[in-house]
Amino acid sequence: MTLFAINTKLTVNLSHIEKNNRFAIDVDKGLSAKRKYLPPKYFYDKLGSRLFEKICDQPEYYPTRTETGILSADMDNIVKILGDHRNSLNIIELGSGSSVKTKLLLKNFLSKRRIHYFPIDISESILNLSVKNLMNEFYDLKCTAICSEYIEGLKRINELISDSHNFSYQKLIIFFGSTIGNFEPIQARVFLSSIKKQMTSQDKMLIGFDLQKDKRTLEKAYDDAAGITAKFNLNILTRINRELGGKFNLNSFYHKSFYNQSRNRIEMHLVSKHEQEVKIKSLNKIFSFKVDESIQTENSYKFSLNQIKNLAENSGFRIVRNFTDLRGQFCLSCLH
Ligand code: AVJ
Repeated sequence: MTLFAINTKLTVNLSHIEKNNRFAIDVDKGLSAKRKYLPPKYFYDKLGSRLFEKICDQPEYYPTRTETGILSADMDNIVKILGDHRNSLNIIELGSGSSVKTKLLLKNFLSKRRIHYFPIDISESILNLSVKNLMNEFYDLKCTAICSEYIEGLKRINELISDSHNFSYQKLIIFFGSTIGNFEPIQARVFLSSIKKQMTSQDKMLIGFDLQKDKRTLEKAYDDAAGITAKFNLNILTRINRELGGKFNLNSFYHKSFYNQSRNRIEMHLVSKHEQEVKIKSLNKIFSFKVDESIQTENSYKFSLNQIKNLAENSGFRIVRNFTDLRGQFCLSCLH
């Protein structure tokens, strides 16, 4: 865990070697499985994070635009729900990325309440960039950025908050972008339950869900015409090559994505164009691929309002209010 503290002096570092080791272990495990897979969190190295930002700008990728639209349209109600009776508010964002949507929230809150913003992201480069950016724009914002996995970061923040006497304990946890869709249904429940355990009765969560819709719209969103999603997907192999001494030839794999209707999820794969063997030096192993064999790199689950309700309730939450766009493409849920 790396912790950048602005306005305070605190740094916690997880050594680079340890981080790299975790990547090696996960790659080994995924590529040794009968059906090969790689965890999607490894997409987000420096280039991967930049490619994801670019995906968000593609005309086919509706989620970012739609969620931002909901946030702007319903801002007054969202602010009201969170209650403006308290002086200060701790805003914790999971997977903050470039914090674009959060800026909208911060603008509205800062006039009313003192804010301590805690972005948590796995990508150190994007975190650095967005914190710098925020500090330039919001002079009176206190910000502590944490480079770690979500629950680990959240626990650390809870410790920080209870140690400090300057802030009230109320927290708003935000999880934009429907990243919850990356979790398997059971894991999503486990994950939300552990978040709930870190919350008190006055805390709230704002979480985005991509809604189920026609197959065509979904499939276009994950295979844009400009080929950015394909690049994003293939970049995970470049990362293995660079960080683990992999020998993947990027021309020997292609990007494939489709909507798995029966499981309500987009699947992303990297498919081997021919039979091949790929060495990964730091694992000291060779992995064999048959022709058309795939590495599954991502599941992106799509939700119905009923599934959102069940997931929330099975994790110990209650829905305070759902905000959706007029076309019913995306849902921003306020939970407590
Ligand atoms: C960041 C997980 C929400 O699933 O839509 C975008 C990632 N993958 N295009 C998503 C992604 C391919 C994105 N999430």
